[in-house]
Amino acid sequence: MTVPPPIVAPSILAADFAHLAEEVRAVEDAADWLHVDVMDNHFVPNLTIGLPVVQSLRAVTALPFDVHLMIEDPRRWAPGYADAGAYNVTFHAEASDDPVALAKDLRSAGAKAGLAIDRDTPIEPYLDLLPSFDTLLIMTIKAGFGGQRFIPQLLDKVRAARRHVDAGHLELRIEVDGGIAADTIEQAAAAGADAFVAGTAVYGAADPAEAVRHLRGLAERAAPGA
Ligand code: DX5
Ligand code: ZN
Repeated sequence: MTVPPPIVAPSILAADFAHLAEEVRAVEDAADWLHVDVMDNHFVPNLTIGLPVVQSLRAVTALPFDVHLMIEDPRRWAPGYADAGAYNVTFHAEASDDPVALAKDLRSAGAKAGLAIDRDTPIEPYLDLLPSFDTLLIMTIKAGFGGQRFIPQLLDKVRAARRHVDAGHLELRIEVDGGIAADTIEQAAAAGADAFVAGTAVYGAADPAEAVRHLRGLAERAAPGA
C-alpha cells in the first residue's frame, strides 16, 4: 500500500455556532482542511448550515474547505460551493443519479470532487467511478449527526477502496468521517484511510489544535508501511 501523509479535517459541526470564526481560528495552524457539514433536513433528518455561512467563513480563514453535502439534489446546489471557494466538494452517492457528471461540473467550477458513501451503501458499484473523483468519503457512522459511535465493520469498505486505488494508481484521498478519535483513528489509518474528519474529538477537547496534532501523529504512525 502507498498512502500519502494523513490529512486531518476538523468538523465545525461540533464547534460553537455562535462563535464560528474564533472556532475556525482555533484550528487554523494545526488543521489541513476544515470540514463543513451541510445538511438539508431531507437527505438526512438534521439541518445545519448552507452557502451563506460558507461564503462568510471563506473570508476569515486560509484553510481549505472540505464541504460535505448531505443534501438532496446535489447537482443543483453543489457547484455553488465550488464557486464560493470550497477546495473540495463531496456529495452523496445515494443522492445522485449521475455522480460522474456532477464530478465534472465541480472540477470545471475549480473544486476537487468528492463522492460520499453512507453506512448502508456498498462500495463496489462505485469503484469504477473513482477516476472521476479526487476524494472518496467513507462514512464510519450513519450520516446525519455528530457524536455517534464509530462502526469498525465499515472499515472493510476502506480496505476495498485502498486496494482499488493502489491497484489502479489512482490519485484519490480516502477519507473517513464519523466517530474518529484517539481510540479509533489508528484502525482507520491501518485500513488505508488518509484523510480523517473529527468533530467531537477536536472541538470537545480543551485544546482543539493540540487534539488535531495528536490525531495526525496517531494516523501517521498507524499508516501501512509507516
Ligand atoms: C455527520 C458528519 C460528520 C460529523 C462527525 O454526518 O458528516 O462530519 O461532524 O462528527 P464526530 O467526529 O463527532 O463523529
Ligand atoms: Zn461530515
